[in-house]
Order: sequence, then C-alpha cells, then structure tokens
Amino acid sequence: MENSALAIYKAIGAVQNVISNAQTLDEAIQGCLKTIVDNSGADSAVLWYADKAGDGTLHPYFWLGPVDLTRRSHAPGNGAVGRVYESQKAERLFDFDALQDVETAIDFKGMSVSSMVCVPFSSNTSSIGTIQFVNTPESGPFTDEVADVMEIMAMMAAIALEESGQLDEPWQPGEVVMELRDITREFQNGDVVTKVLKGVNLDVYEGEFLVLLGESGCGKSTLLNIIGGMDSATSGTFHYLGKDLSSASQQELTDFRRDNIGFIFQSYNLMPNLTALQNLKLIAELVDDPMDADEALEIVGLEERKKNYPSQMSGGQQQRVSIARALVKNPKIILADEPTAALDYSTSIEVLQVMEEIIKKGTTMVMVTHNEEITRMADRVVRMRDGRMHEVTVNRNRARATDLVW
Ligand SMILES: Nc1ncnc2c1ncn2[C@@H]1O[C@H](COP(=O)(O)OP(=O)(O)OP(=O)(O)O)[C@@H](O)[C@H]1O
Ligand SMILES: [Mg+2]
Repeated sequence: MENSALAIYKAIGAVQNVISNAQTLDEAIQGCLKTIVDNSGADSAVLWYADKAGDGTLHPYFWLGPVDLTRRSHAPGNGAVGRVYESQKAERLFDFDALQDVETAIDFKGMSVSSMVCVPFSSNTSSIGTIQFVNTPESGPFTDEVADVMEIMAMMAAIALEESGQLDEPWQPGEVVMELRDITREFQNGDVVTKVLKGVNLDVYEGEFLVLLGESGCGKSTLLNIIGGMDSATSGTFHYLGKDLSSASQQELTDFRRDNIGFIFQSYNLMPNLTALQNLKLIAELVDDPMDADEALEIVGLEERKKNYPSQMSGGQQQRVSIARALVKNPKIILADEPTAALDYSTSIEVLQVMEEIIKKGTTMVMVTHNEEITRMADRVVRMRDGRMHEVTVNRNRARATDLVW
C-alpha cells in the first residue's frame, strides 16, 4: 500500500463520491462496501445491519463472496461481528487460525478463513452495524495500515449515510427449500475438461424471488439445470426439503422434477400442434395434483385464448402460456431462464406482472436474467462470476413490475 495518509484521503474521497452519486440508500450502502473493498483489498466482505426495531440482532444485508450467509445472524456481543457492534471497537484478527472464532467459522462454513477485520459501521451518534472483511487475495494477513483504511472508510460512510435516513425492515427469509454446497460441474469433451461451476454455495428460501445474474458463460443456466434436476453436479451436495439428492438416480431426478419444479425458458417450447389449453393439459396429466388448466390460463390472463395454437399468439402470449404450463403442475418452485429476453418492454412487464402474482401466492421463483432492472423486484439478488457466487444483496425495497423502466 502507498503512503497510508494519502491512501486514507483517497479512500474518503471515493466514499463521498459514491454516496453523492447514488440514487437510493441501498445503492449508497452497497457502493460504500464495494469502494471500501476496492481500496483495501479483501476477498469477502459482509455488511451486517442491526435490526434496531427488534432486539438489535445483526443480519447480513449485502456481501461479496462465495458463501450464502442469508440466514446467519449475530446477537449483539455474539462472535466478532456482535462484539464489535456492542463495544464499537474494531477487531483485527490477522492470524485467524490461532484465534478460532467459532461463530465466524460457522458463518464461513466451507471457506477457509485466514485473516479477518471487523469494524463498526457507525458515526459518532448512531450505530448501523458491523462491516466484516475476510481474507486477502494473496491469502496472507491483513495489515494494520489496511485495517486503518477500512475503519476510517466505514466511519465516513456511516456519517454520510446518517443524513440519508433509515433503511426499511430487513426481509425475513422463509425456510430453506434447497441447499447447495460446494457444487461443481465439469464438462468433458475428449481430453478437454471445462470447469463451469467451481464451488457454488447457495440456499433457496421458501416463497422467495431470487434473481441470478452474471456475464454470459459464467454458469447460470448450468446452475439452474442442477437446481431443477435436469443435470447432476460433478461434486458437492444438493438437498431438497432436507432430502439428499446429491447422488440421486436419473429416475429419482425425473420424479423430483416432475413433482416439484416448473420451468420457463426464453424460447417458449410449446407444442405447435396443440392449443394453449391442450399444451397445459398434456402436462397436467403427468402430475398427481395439478391445477385446473382453465384456472392456470385465467391466472396468466389468457382464458380467451385457450383454443388458439401457438402460431396464432404473440410472443408475450406464448410466454404467458408457458408460465401457465409451469403453474399447472402446482410446483413448489418455478425456475425461469431469461423468460423476458425475447420480449419487448411492455410485453416483458406483462409477463413480470404475472410472475409477481404467482410469487405473491407463495410459489418460490428463481430467475436468471441479464436485465439489471428486474433485480429491483427480487427478494435477493445473487451475482455470479466465473462459476462462483460473487455478490449477494438482500432487497429491502422491492419494486413492483409496473415500476420497472428500461
Ligand atoms: N454440455 C456442455 N459441454 C461443454 N461445455 C458446456 C456444456 N454446457 C455448458 N457448457 C459451458 O459452460 C459454460 C457456462 O454455460 P452456461 O450456459 O451455464 O452459461 P450462462 O451463464 O447461462 O450464459 P448465458 O448468459 O450466455 O446464458 C459455457 O462456457 C458453456 O460453453
Ligand atoms: Mg444461460
């Protein structure tokens, strides 16, 4: 690191810049954390936010790193995160192995923690939470200079944010429906092995709307296919409602998929020689407890179109039929891979409004998209990079489909 006073001035300028350019409080907070990480260097960083309306429990609000922390929490005083919040004094655990903070080890289960810094996220008058930094990219220890920068930047950010008002209540995740741990997927073509997923740790919660983003080729569709039982992981574990499906047979995966999962794709994949209603009935016959096909068409607003063939419908209408086809199974989870990519703006909004209604009724939805604007509707946003989870945000202010603009 360069001269530390200069580094601190630069870092403070960067934080102020982020806050003054942010459109929303969420954007400001997330921008601050990213800026602190950029200026100090850390592999993972977590912003723990204290629920002051309740008992002060700290919940993860935004984080960078490969571990799903969504349901983790710390009571004030509990673990390094809780201690720092209570004492308002930073903790610098440069040699983590020697210190063995059990609570933190649980947070980062599956990840080896070698060095950690926790700093208060507080101004002089109010305390927002704790920011936790884990591991340097070179896996050596953090230094005191770096920890100084982290501490000062966190304080600057808290002072600047204080004027912006309070965040909304944290989103409360439901029960874990799916648990993925250290999921890898390799493809072998001849002698060439391509590693696509490199250790994904993700939980999916009951009733949530999870949006998955990332650059083309980072492994989103591959992950979605594993979640939906269309493909198997090379290694790692996969539980559905507590049941271990990690080494399930093809037949078991087929049963799992048929009984629990609805799929929606970018291309609608409707049977061209069947009407909308017949397309739905075909699927309804396969499952034990289907929804009435007419009712499913009504939910997507197409009861008038039930006798139409796919070629007689617009793209948006066909996509709504394909949503109805997913719904007719009464699935626990709907997986959607870029469902609006082929649609224009207003048709996309119509489709998203249908999805919004379905989620409201309690169906869990995991959607892959390239559209940043859709993230505003999600309960959680997971960004992938190069086969791993890279960044997770828990949304507090969820936009409605009709609020989205692009
Ligand atoms: N059957 C396969 N054999 C070999 N490589 C594969 C196979 N399936 C996927 N891949 C590779 O895995 C990588 C990830 O593919 P995937 O479809 O999951 O990406 P994605 O994130 O969904 O991208 P996009 O946003 O373009 O849809 C790509 O490099 C792809 O070429
Ligand atoms: Mg894809």
